[in-house]
Amino acid sequence: MISKKMQSMVENGSVIRAMFEEGKNLARIYGADNVYDYSLGNPCTPPPESVRQEACNILMNEPEMLVHGYMSNSGYEDVRASVAESLNRRFGTDFGAGNLIMTVGAAGGLNVALKTILEPGDEVLVFAPYFVEYNNYISNFLGVPAVVPPGEDLALNVAGAEKVITAKTKAMILNSPNNPTGAVYTEAEIKALADLLETKSAEYGHTIYLLSDEPYREIVFDGAKVPYLTKYYRNTLVGYSYSKSLSLPGERIGYLVIPSEVDDFEMTVQAAAVANRILGFVNAPSLFQRVIGRIPDQTSDLSIYAKNRELLCRELGRMGYRFTAPRGAFYMFPESLEPDDVKFCAKAKEYRLLLVPGSSFRGPGHFRLAFCVSHEMIERSLDSFEKLAAYYR
Ligand SMILES: Cc1ncc(COP(=O)(O)O)c(C=O)c1O
Repeated sequence: MISKKMQSMVENGSVIRAMFEEGKNLARIYGADNVYDYSLGNPCTPPPESVRQEACNILMNEPEMLVHGYMSNSGYEDVRASVAESLNRRFGTDFGAGNLIMTVGAAGGLNVALKTILEPGDEVLVFAPYFVEYNNYISNFLGVPAVVPPGEDLALNVAGAEKVITAKTKAMILNSPNNPTGAVYTEAEIKALADLLETKSAEYGHTIYLLSDEPYREIVFDGAKVPYLTKYYRNTLVGYSYSKSLSLPGERIGYLVIPSEVDDFEMTVQAAAVANRILGFVNAPSLFQRVIGRIPDQTSDLSIYAKNRELLCRELGRMGYRFTAPRGAFYMFPESLEPDDVKFCAKAKEYRLLLVPGSSFRGPGHFRLAFCVSHEMIERSLDSFEKLAAYYR
């Protein structure tokens, strides 16, 4: 008999993944061109050519024993140094190889961070609506998610966080640019949050960590700036991933930053490396570490997301959908046209639109649109959005 916890995880399996499967079914029935799948955050723009070139160069020219062997659980030192220098150049930070641990994507990095800091029963604050996999990551280490309700117009709800924080709070996860809302938190919001964390850490007499989950850092619109959080709050750990910026979600590559100012720095870095090992990752994938080390500043051509956002905001706005325009990531979070977002998304399916109910992100009354899709698919889908809106008029 499998564990009760896993039974319930299977039974309450991911809505988004289920939709992905359903999309494939509908495509078989109606033809792929007649199904408009906005459900999954899978990048639609290819990695830059340099990824393939560097991977080939490494495979052809570097010693096999280096490319395919074990290395330190933290990852290759030269790769971590190269990424640290890139961060310092771009964000004015002061990191070295010793501040980084290469991880199995952002998911791996968050699990390593939570394993490193959580005691059973510790609370981790999350801001609704949010990427609900956080609940699973937190419960992996017997932590408890504490949900901060949404703020006005997708703003960061610092006042709400103050009400939810308790003596049991050990960490807070912040995701900017945000999945599912596309919000990018401003410097003023980050400063207010940092003040709250300082005050509460002092009041409760223990470290409260800020975990910055930022796989969408490079995907921003209209010149939005994404503050680098370690500059605002000392006990910040940054989880990054190349899944979205380099369109490499299947390669499972990212890193965790542990700044030297973090409490018990040496111990924290060692513990995170051990966590990487004993969670079964052992180390991040070797070949893609080496690729990243050679092209630490590069991204895919991300312009498609700005183009898609422009079209959707213009057309859905014209049809009467209500939303705050995303400032980053590749998601929109409009209000559903009936209060029950699950029913609304079921109705949308009749028009062959696959949308994810906001309640799957603890944001009921909304739906998520992942616009990492081809521009042509958006154009083809507009008629369905129009008919769906007309149904509710
Ligand atoms: C907010 C957020 N965090 C983490 C992840 C996991 O990313 P990765 O593929 O790098 O593990 C995702 C993936 O979509 C995400 O949206």
